[in-house]
Amino acid sequence: MQRIFSGIQPSGIPQLGNYLGALRNWVALQDGHECIYCVVDLHALTQWQEPAQLRQATREMAASLLACGVDARRHILFQQSAVHAHVRLAWLFNCVARMGWLNRMTQFKDKAGKDRENASTGLFVYPNLMAADILTYHATRVPVGDDQRQHLELANDIAKKFNHDYGVEFFPLIEPVILGVAARVMSLRDGTKKMSKSDPSDQSRINLTDDADAIALKIRRARTDPEPLPSEPAGLESRPEARNLVGIFAALADTDVAGVLGEHGGKGFDRFKEVLTALLVAKLTPIAEETKRWLADPATIDAVLREGAARARTIADPIVDEAERLVGLLQP
Ligand code: AMP
Ligand code: TRP
Repeated sequence: MQRIFSGIQPSGIPQLGNYLGALRNWVALQDGHECIYCVVDLHALTQWQEPAQLRQATREMAASLLACGVDARRHILFQQSAVHAHVRLAWLFNCVARMGWLNRMTQFKDKAGKDRENASTGLFVYPNLMAADILTYHATRVPVGDDQRQHLELANDIAKKFNHDYGVEFFPLIEPVILGVAARVMSLRDGTKKMSKSDPSDQSRINLTDDADAIALKIRRARTDPEPLPSEPAGLESRPEARNLVGIFAALADTDVAGVLGEHGGKGFDRFKEVLTALLVAKLTPIAEETKRWLADPATIDAVLREGAARARTIADPIVDEAERLVGLLQP
């Protein structure tokens, strides 16, 4: 059975892009794979976090994942910082990856913004830790949204260079699993920007904890153009906001863009937004309810994470012990 690994930062409430680009696929892949899912709190630290807030956000993220259907009994759900193998391997990878490789990472450029001199060095080596997350388990399939493709290519470069430099076939190559019509969900306010849980405008995204009224209001206010929906996918060209809403609908309805336009082409946005809202409410409000139920019982969430970490360690520790031996570190 192939081993799956994926992670999500506890940097806010998960939004629709996280759900359609990643979490929904995490849940679907649980049948037929051995899955390891991680709340990557160490990655969150690459940008300033208020300590008490980070602790709470880690719990909330775990609650959301459980509510989405991550099955922590059959699979593993844990918090990254609880398994030290990740940082041990990340250090080895800091010494394998090249500055030039990291300099090309577009997420660093986006997150560091104009003031690159002032970005944390953690943000710069973020992709090395991500490669370590996956390769600590010798995982081979990684479900993510489209924005993480470049990081996974880098992880493969690291695995190859490690194997080459030490003359071993130790780390496997990783296959990105980027699925569905909504692997890149865009902001509701600007169809050229990706939807993000850290966008300052709450109106730009649907949170997995939004209730029906909040969803309705955000969709009503979502930016569109004045034209009705086209009846063919080609008619969405240079209409990023329209394409985004149709993509969201298609993903939630388990169909494709052509299918949605076949049914709703010709409608004005007023009408289309109503059906989209109804679909979002039907799919997301049960998750919001389930998240609330989990959050009412934080001790159980903590116990789930603790137990997940213990199981993760039994896989990770021997692999990272071996990696350390391979590079010449003395094992006690
Ligand atoms: P993050 O919130 O950055 O930790 O991302 C967690 C997962 O959600 C990753 O697999 C991302 O690729 C995915 N993701 C985040 N934002 C979006 C988006 N707007 N559209 C699709 N996938 C996304
Ligand atoms: N970098 C990913 C993101 O921002 C989160 C992440 C960290 C991750 N480690 C990972 C995703 C390992 C997949 C595998 O979305």
